[in-house]
Amino acid sequence: MPQPRLSPLSNFGLTIVSVIVLLAAIFPTQPIRTRGAAAQRSDIERRINALLARMTLAEKLGQLQQLDGHADGRFKDEQPELVRKGLLGSTLNVRGVKNTNDLQRIAVEQSRLKIPMIFGFDVIHGYRTVFPIPLGETASWDPAAVKRAASIAAAESRAAGVHWTFAPMVDIARDARWGRIAEGSGEDPYLGSVMARARVQGFQGTDYSANDKVVACAKHWVAYGAAEAGRDYNTTDVSERTLREVYFPPFKAAVDAGVGTFMSAFNSLNGVPTSANPFTLTDILRGEWKFDGFVVSDYTSVEELIKHGVAADGAEAAQEALNAGVDMEMVSRLYNRHGAELLKQRRLTQQTIDEAVRRILRIKFRLGLFDKPYADEARERAVILSPANVAAAREIAARSIVLLKNEKHVLPLAKSVKSVALIGPLADSQKDMIGSWTGDGRAEDAITLLQGLKSKLPQAKINYAKGCEIGCDRAEGFEEAVRAARESDVVILAVGESAEMSGEAASRTSLDLPGRQLDLVRAVQATGKPTTVVLMNGRPLTINWIAENTPAILETWFAGTQAGNAIADVLFGDVNPGGKLPVTFPRAVGQIPLYYNHFNTGRPPDSNNKYTSKYTDVPWTPLFPFGYGLSYTQFKITNLQLSAPRIPANGKLTVSVDVENVGKRAGDEVVQLYIRDVVASVARPVKELKGFERVRLEPGMKRRVDFALNPEQLGFYNRKLRFVVEPGEIKVMVGPNSQDLIESTFQVVER
Ligand code: BGC
Repeated sequence: MPQPRLSPLSNFGLTIVSVIVLLAAIFPTQPIRTRGAAAQRSDIERRINALLARMTLAEKLGQLQQLDGHADGRFKDEQPELVRKGLLGSTLNVRGVKNTNDLQRIAVEQSRLKIPMIFGFDVIHGYRTVFPIPLGETASWDPAAVKRAASIAAAESRAAGVHWTFAPMVDIARDARWGRIAEGSGEDPYLGSVMARARVQGFQGTDYSANDKVVACAKHWVAYGAAEAGRDYNTTDVSERTLREVYFPPFKAAVDAGVGTFMSAFNSLNGVPTSANPFTLTDILRGEWKFDGFVVSDYTSVEELIKHGVAADGAEAAQEALNAGVDMEMVSRLYNRHGAELLKQRRLTQQTIDEAVRRILRIKFRLGLFDKPYADEARERAVILSPANVAAAREIAARSIVLLKNEKHVLPLAKSVKSVALIGPLADSQKDMIGSWTGDGRAEDAITLLQGLKSKLPQAKINYAKGCEIGCDRAEGFEEAVRAARESDVVILAVGESAEMSGEAASRTSLDLPGRQLDLVRAVQATGKPTTVVLMNGRPLTINWIAENTPAILETWFAGTQAGNAIADVLFGDVNPGGKLPVTFPRAVGQIPLYYNHFNTGRPPDSNNKYTSKYTDVPWTPLFPFGYGLSYTQFKITNLQLSAPRIPANGKLTVSVDVENVGKRAGDEVVQLYIRDVVASVARPVKELKGFERVRLEPGMKRRVDFALNPEQLGFYNRKLRFVVEPGEIKVMVGPNSQDLIESTFQVVER
């Protein structure tokens, strides 16, 4: 860490009058939020210029530095002094009003230029009130619910002094071995884009200087989810076409929604690490997409350029990352250590450094931190884990649950039931309910399924037996579990993964239930009692035996603080499940990557022809397809109509269907629209999601659902990687999942 050179003001040759003018520019009396957007923006740029003109090189490099606090929210002992000297502009993990205000006070009252700190934190699916893991939230197929969860998370974060969340994670994941599939929206770029937008809007609102909003961060830029073999941090090799069509779109949606920051990733992409990749960081992000916020590195990813083998030492790593477009360095300190020397050696320009500082200050201004740097302890107490937030967590968790099987209407269970056996290692585990990124969430706030059942059924006898641990290799608890099942009218089996088995650095080579849980399920199922399997997990699991042999399955992910209540709501019919899978469930790990929007190949699978694209040991099809999920009622989707038989390449079309609740309960159906460009200059996927709507219908009710198809949805990247809509036939498919579809076609014609 270089020592600061604190230049006295007179060194800048400024008169007292001009100092006053500058200070007035930096700290105007009128709050910036009350002015028009354009005026506000140019005002911010003026204030940034005024500040930049006064900053020493050390202070500039200080703005590019982010350091970690303690896991419990306190800052580290060395940090106040760094802040006082202007050598540290941001922390992560420092949170709680007392902690943030204490450090902020030093920045704002004791540092020379009084530039406020920006406090970042991983608020991934809730701050203290924890919502379902992002994959689970996405299973709601309800952007309004997802936006609401992000908005509550933002309000709690800002109340706790946090300004900036490292979310949403918008990485597409086609490989369930990769543990971080839990943190994203699954395999589909369209669904991923809708959810990216919803989360950015929820976190930021229309003005993230508000005291209940935070600035969001689209991460991890980019293709981090394409890690070879599903092993976290591993190499990626992805064609530009696949980048543009699969991995980029959710990031672009985040930019279009106004996201303030990006995080560069850990992976190398086509040989160039993404934290030193000018193509992605500058050409695409700033050049093509006009993103004007800043990019933070991932945790020590600048220093890791050395291990990647593209930088010989710390100086080279700093040079490459900053020149490529990484503005803020998380945790490693190479910009600070080597910035001055790199500038002297002309390996960095003053302009590059200034531009990075400018981008960071811009977001600090937009957050309103210069005008309102502190958080309020009374507000913190009122907002965090408020009854309203907890109630929302229950509702949103219930919306994220997917009914995978329900033979002979085992579900919903009757509330009049006299006795219930609740079995399994996840039935009463508070810490697992809140998932792997818990924010400031606490296990003790979480409601387990056992607690949820007890409050749902105060009169019934709950026979609880753990059966085994999550990763058990012994069966000694099985007997008690079987006895509990025998003594009960119905059985609920809560099985799955522990929270730490997914998330960061939590890749698996098997997608089976860990330990001997499947043996437990078999033993209990053999009692013949009506059994419902409640899955809790951060990724698709290979559950063939369960899918075949147990009558009812609920996929509940890790549903958050209110998991147990939400699951009980669904089990006993207070909520009719309407979630759908945001990711394909394979039959075997060897099928991976298995995703619905694949290409046809020249030899599409044909069970009567050996020499077609399939396996000899396992069917090529998924166990449960993308978009799949049942309800306690039944729906019919009929009467598919297109507004025109042909449209010009720049034209639009409306697709309409009727959706009818033909069952006996009110419920939700997610109507899904897919298309296929049948013949094009490059091969196109067999289907691509282009629209969806979660529709609520009372029994017997019917509704017309319309989808717009416009050039943005009909186009693709041609052989020259230009985005085009080509003439020809487009197949339109609509249904309740990616497999059960009704079809029609239209033509795109030359103008
Ligand atoms: C993760 C990021 C996270 C960062 C800060 C990294 O290890 O990859 O997603 O935001 O840590 O906690």
